[in-house]
Amino acid sequence: MSSFSVSAPTAVLGSAGFEHEQVILCQDRASGLKAVIALHSTALGPALGGTRFRAYGSDEEAIADVLALSRGMSYKNAVAGLDFGGGKAVIIGDPLRVKSEELLLAFGRFVASLGGAYVTGSDLGTTTSDMGVVARVCRWTAGSSREGDGVGETAIHTARGVLNGMKAGAHHRWGTSSLRGRAVGVAGLGKVGRPLVELLVREGATVVVTDVLEEAVARVTRGLREVAVVDDTDTLVRTPGLDVYAPCALGATLNDDVAPVITAEVVCGAANNQLAHPRVERLLADRGVLYLPDYVVNAGGVIQAVGQLRGHSALETSLKVEEIFDTTLAVLTRAASTGVLPGEAADGIAEQRITAAAGRRRSGAKP
Ligand SMILES: NC(=O)c1ccc[n+]([C@@H]2O[C@H](COP(=O)([O-])OP(=O)(O)OC[C@H]3O[C@@H](n4cnc5c(N)ncnc54)[C@H](O)[C@@H]3O)[C@@H](O)[C@H]2O)c1
Repeated sequence: MSSFSVSAPTAVLGSAGFEHEQVILCQDRASGLKAVIALHSTALGPALGGTRFRAYGSDEEAIADVLALSRGMSYKNAVAGLDFGGGKAVIIGDPLRVKSEELLLAFGRFVASLGGAYVTGSDLGTTTSDMGVVARVCRWTAGSSREGDGVGETAIHTARGVLNGMKAGAHHRWGTSSLRGRAVGVAGLGKVGRPLVELLVREGATVVVTDVLEEAVARVTRGLREVAVVDDTDTLVRTPGLDVYAPCALGATLNDDVAPVITAEVVCGAANNQLAHPRVERLLADRGVLYLPDYVVNAGGVIQAVGQLRGHSALETSLKVEEIFDTTLAVLTRAASTGVLPGEAADGIAEQRITAAAGRRRSGAKP
């Protein structure tokens, strides 16, 4: 196992410079663990965000990813009204090759050493069962399931949250929150995309789907014969008559090529970091396409994780996920009244909450 190799920190941090409270490089030679934990902000409470396990091209790439992801979690948690800050961890390596119980336990000990400043959970490359292993040595773990029993699965709540955000978008755009008769395109039929399609069909929407994996498409179409399938995301975004486009696969799919051809009037999906660049939101808006900020509508998963941490009932968690409707409307209303795009309006709401909490903390008051 190689040691960390990081060139000038400024090259990694970018022009924005230092924005994070703490960035910790973690190494355990015995198990082969190499991980980075980033605490962007603890102003609202412990930094909360999952652990991504990925084979990065370089240590710099891993650090850049964890910095962006942890910042995103601060904003997501703040806008969702949660009393948690933003953090994230990345474990460097191919999970299929290097993941082991010993490595996860070593990672758990690093998280535990932070004494609750960081609360972790599952993310791409880690499962709720992995978090069950981490939880054996670290009590600051959300979304864990010790026997693969599905407890801690966040995806269904994420799908419900996206649906609520979509209804708020419909209300804003068409004056009714009903999705009956609306044509919705869903790209990515994984843990979130699949239940989202089921919820949309139940709402009376017509759904067009795509996924790179044939079996993912088959799993959806087997049960729901009324769902139409297209070959790829490029075809989906150009499909005539689409009302809503829901990106539920990878990030950065809304780019300079997609913005000019997208047919949907509203974009609302689960994928994190959908905009390849913030200016893409302006390109979409200039064509009359309403983009609902990803971190506002995909907060159902983190709301579920907080519910598990705090011992909330299933009903309390569901009601909090329903609130994504109101949160999304609040973002859209602020955007309309201040003349900014929804992305900027959402960032403004998050920054206001974080700054106010940081101010209270400085003055010694409760967060
Ligand atoms: N799981 C959650 O609770 C949660 C919460 C918030 C955000 N998200 C984000 O939502 C997205 C989906 O999460 P998930 O848990 O469903 O992931 P997943 O890995 O279970 O599913 C992703 C699906 O997208 C498909 N896919 C990959 N590339 C594609 C492409 N180019 N075109 C079409 N389909 C493609 C994959 O085959 C897979 O079926 C991710 O970006 C994730 O970060 C998930």
